[in-house]
Parts: sequence; structure tokens; C-alpha cells
Amino acid sequence: MAPHKAKERELLRFTTAGSVDDGKSTLIGRMLYDSKQIFQDQMEALERASRLRGEETVDLALLTDGLRAEREQRITIDVAYRYFATPKRKFIIADTPGHEQYTRNMVTGASTADLAVILVDARKGILPQSRRHGIIASLLAIPHVVVAINKMDLVDYSEERYRELVDEYAAFAEKLNIHDLVFVPISALKGDNVVEAGGRMPWFEGRPLLPFLEDITITGSRNLVDFRLPVQYVLRPHQDFRGFAGRIASGSIKVGEQVTVLPSLFHSRVRELYVGARRAEEAFAHQSVMLTLEDEIDVSRGDMIVRSHNLPVIDQEFDAYVCWMDETTPMQEAGDYLLQHTTRTCKAHVNEILYQMDVNTLHREKATQLALNEIGRVRFTTSQPLFFDPYDRNRETGGFILIDPATFRTVAAGMIRYTTKETLRELRREQGEAQIQRVAATNVTWDESLVTHAEREQQNRHRALCIWLTGLSGSGKSTIARCVERALFDEDRRVFRLDGDNVRHGLCADLGFSREDRMTNIRRIGHAARLLYDSGHMVICSFIAPYEEDRAFVRALFPEEAFMEIYVKCDIEECKRRDPKGLYAKAERGEIKGFTGVDDPYEEPTRPELVIDTTGLDVQETVDRVLRFVRETL
Ligand code: ADX
Repeated sequence: MAPHKAKERELLRFTTAGSVDDGKSTLIGRMLYDSKQIFQDQMEALERASRLRGEETVDLALLTDGLRAEREQRITIDVAYRYFATPKRKFIIADTPGHEQYTRNMVTGASTADLAVILVDARKGILPQSRRHGIIASLLAIPHVVVAINKMDLVDYSEERYRELVDEYAAFAEKLNIHDLVFVPISALKGDNVVEAGGRMPWFEGRPLLPFLEDITITGSRNLVDFRLPVQYVLRPHQDFRGFAGRIASGSIKVGEQVTVLPSLFHSRVRELYVGARRAEEAFAHQSVMLTLEDEIDVSRGDMIVRSHNLPVIDQEFDAYVCWMDETTPMQEAGDYLLQHTTRTCKAHVNEILYQMDVNTLHREKATQLALNEIGRVRFTTSQPLFFDPYDRNRETGGFILIDPATFRTVAAGMIRYTTKETLRELRREQGEAQIQRVAATNVTWDESLVTHAEREQQNRHRALCIWLTGLSGSGKSTIARCVERALFDEDRRVFRLDGDNVRHGLCADLGFSREDRMTNIRRIGHAARLLYDSGHMVICSFIAPYEEDRAFVRALFPEEAFMEIYVKCDIEECKRRDPKGLYAKAERGEIKGFTGVDDPYEEPTRPELVIDTTGLDVQETVDRVLRFVRETL
């Protein structure tokens, strides 16, 4: 087959685990040999070597052990990556020795694997290491696990023995997080059930190992949903061109889609997309791409570009399973390390080792340090926010390594479990502060007032506040806002109202109702509301604001306690019946395009401070409810 054809075949990365005695090298050799992946001269040399040893069959382990010995001298982490291909598929094997002290090798080799082959010696049965391999496969979220019961030739191809081992391992694996577990009885030495079935185990109804590996569907084992592009380089060949390059960690992206850059939270759209040197309309996980954005925004190496409606977790605190890999120094509680996650490197502090896990039994023990090959659950704080997904959802953005800052050696591999604190909101607020301080022009500085915010609030004898009403057109926002404004004014409060139709006179007269224009509209209103808040006012905003993202932007402009989002909920049919401005009728006749609720979306708030359903309520009742809520807050 021509080399370029071979490239198109789908790749399966798998890892083999087992000790030398389990026949792992023989198995790999057998797959290479029987699938005719060994060069003729290598094969003849093998046959000669085996004959010299007086063996009747070719010693396939000679082949793989030879390869390993060569590599061992060059690489510190002892994983040999071997490559072979059949007409159906390409394979990369991360071959990791399986002794007790080699947990770290397995972790290294398996971290990108689609599948793990765990070898069990049919005579020796299920050993602690067979269990350990299962536990590690489960921790690393390897989607498919095949347990190959090897050396069946030495137990007379006994179905009974095979069943016994299958039952024992399956019972153990129930406690693990393995989604797909398959068993196959083989003899790597004789070749049974490796590439072909052979005739000695007719009772086995499954498929031989290699055909099974050739056909297994692995698309489900990748995250194709969450678009994550860690930025590796910023390309700036000339003033007017800025491209952001990197490898797509997961998901896919199309030209024209809206994206958000982390950590700045600025958004834009994808203008152009290149996969290699080729211009493309769409790009997918694991492709190396370069993209340009429609807006001039600051993006640097270590930032992450994601789809605007699908953000990862943004946090500086999380906990993770950690496999410690350093021979000389154990991980210490309160230790400081460098953490490398996608294209970001930052400092990481060990807050606490929650427990150490016995990889043979799954038992948890309290520990204050983790030595070589030990696995523990550890809580970290990082010097910068990381943009991640839990490892079991996304292995690319959920994994990291730790580096010793003194020696620059890789000392651990980590798999993020979950966030200990939901700081996304907080971060957004910090970013909101940054938005307020944001300037496009140079030579502009912020001028501090001689009057403080607290002084203004004291003078007013009430706190400043932003009351944000969102909901469909006709839901009753403006009516409620007007009445609430009147009532608060009558109570001697400083209050001002910003309303959709009003703001679109003047301040936002240049805007229509496209996605971009609505975003700009809400951004300007947010800043206007913030100015009123700064002046000590209670500001009431009533806008459709149909997008969660835009509302989150506004929320971020205010201190947490000073912002209240009220979802004015109303059944769309009821809104249409009310239709105070006759706009729904027009939209339904096609005279208005992109009308919210008709042919434009409204995203319901996910975490509003208050929801008022106006479908059945009368106006006074809803107004009273809002007023009660405001008074409670003050
Ligand atoms: S928003 O989407 O940008 O938040 P905003 O609240 O400012 O909308 O303006 C909504 C008002 O504009 C509606 O009450 C309605 O009177 C008017 N309007 C005109 N065209 C549209 C449209 N296509 N979608 C929604 N409202 C529209």
C-alpha cells in the first residue's frame, strides 16, 4: 500500500501491561510477525537466532526485547512506542514494563491510549499487578480494556480455567470505572487467537485479538464536543495579520463561529482557518491549526480559545489524582512545583494530600507524602487560573504534569478530578473589573475621584444597586421597571431606569438586532448602568438581553452583592396575545426579521436571583414581589 494511503487509516493507540513473564513481548512480536510487519531480513535473523538456541518456534520476544534494550539507554521514562499497520488500521503500542515499580511507566504510556491490553498468565491467575493495571487503566480513563488470558497452551486450552479467571477479574473490575471490558484467551507463543483463531479453542465465541483491535470503534473515546484550542504560537508576519496556532485538544470549530479567548473573556468570530498550509472551513480534534479572528484582540501563548457557549472550568483550585514518578524525592504536602497544562505553565502549591491509594486493593490511606509510583488524591492551588475539564470528560484538558522547579525533571502525572470551589463567577467579576479599566486608546489613565463610593451611599442613606430585568418582549419588564422606579423614588431613593426602547434612541441608535449588535447594545448598557451605580444610584435595567453570555458580561461589571438578575418569565403565547407594540404580529408576517422568540433565540437565565412568572399575575403583585426582594437585599 502506498504510504499516503496508509496515513489515512484510523489510528489506534494502545498500551500493553504485564510483566516480562506474562509474555507481553511475545504477544507484540506475534502481532508483528503474523501480520507480516517484520522485514524479511529481520525475520530470517530471528529464525536463525531461534534455531541456534535449539528452539522449534521463532522466539518472538527476541524482536521486541531487542528494540526495548536499545531505547532504554536513551529515554528516562521507560516506555517504548512501537508502530505497526495492517491494511485496516495503524497502531501505536506504548509498551510498558509492568513490575511493581513501573506504575509510572504505565501512566506515561497510557495517558493517550484508546485501549489497554492487560496480560494475565493463565497458570498464575489474577495477580496483584493484574489488578493494579486495571486500576490504572480506570484512573487514566482508558475507554476500552482487553484482558488477554495468555499461555492457554500451558493449561491445555481449558475453557474451565479461562471462565474461572474471567469471573474473578470481572468481579474485581465492577468496582472500577471501566466502560468496556473484553476478555480473550490466547497463546502468544503458539499464535492462538492473536491474529487468527487457530482450532484449539473452539469453545471461544469471541474474535481473535488483532481483528478485534482492527475493528473496534474508537471515535466515542475522544471528546468531540468541547472545542479547546490551547494557543501555542501567535504568528504576526505583518501588521495586518495575526494568526493563532496550536493543536486542537478536543472538539471542532468552523469558520464564522463565535469564540471566547481565555483568560481575557473577549469574544470574536473565526475569520479564517488553516489546517497545515491548507485553508479549511472546519477543523477537528488533534489537528494542528492556525486561525485568525475578526476582531483585534490580545491573545498570547498559553491562552485558550473556546466556543463562547461552551467554556471549560476556569479555576485555580482543584483536586487531582497524581502518580508520583521521581525516584529521589517524594511529593510533600505544602510543596511547590511547576505545573504544565496544555500550553500553560504556572506554579502549583500542594494544599493537601487527601489520601494515598493502595493500587493493589483500592484502599485509601491518609498520607503526607507520595513516593515513587504511589498514587494519591491531591488538592492544588495554582498561581494562575487553569482552563480545564475534568479528566474523565476530557483527557487532553484534564491532564497535567508536575515539574521539579530545581531540577526541571518531570516528577508527576496528574488527572484533574473536579473543582473544589466554583470560582468561575468570581473570575468573571475580576475580568469585569478589567473590562471597566480597559482602554483602546493609548495615553489614557484612570482618574480617581475625591469622593468615595461609600460616601455617596452614606449620603443617599442606601446602597447602590443594579436591578437587571430580562425576558421576552411583552413579558412585562418595562411595566414592572416603571412601577418599581416610581415606588423607590417615592421612598426617597436615588433611582434611575434604563429601558430597551429608550436606550436605542441616542446611545444605541446605531444598533440593530443582529447577534453582534445586541451584544454591543448590552455592553454599552452595562457600562452605562455601572456609571449610574458608581454615582450611587439604584439602577433598573429592562432589556430582552437574550444571551446568557451577554448577561454574564454585565453581571461581571458589578460587585456580587450589588447585582440582581430578575428573570421576568412569561409564556411566549401570552406575550403574543399581549403584543403591546404589535411587533409579534409583524414578525409572524415576516415584516420583522430576527425577532426574539419568533425567529431569534432567547436563552433563559441559568442562575437568576429571582424569577417572576407574569403569565397569571397582575402587575401590582409582581411589583410588590420585586420591591420586597430589593428591600431584603438592602
Ligand atoms: S436586546 O435584545 O438588545 O436586549 P432590547 O431590549 O434592547 O433588545 O430591545 C428590545 C425592543 O426592541 C423590543 O421591546 C421591541 O420593542 C424592539 N424590537 C424591534 N425589533 C426587535 C427584534 N428583532 N427583536 C427584539 N426586539 C425588537
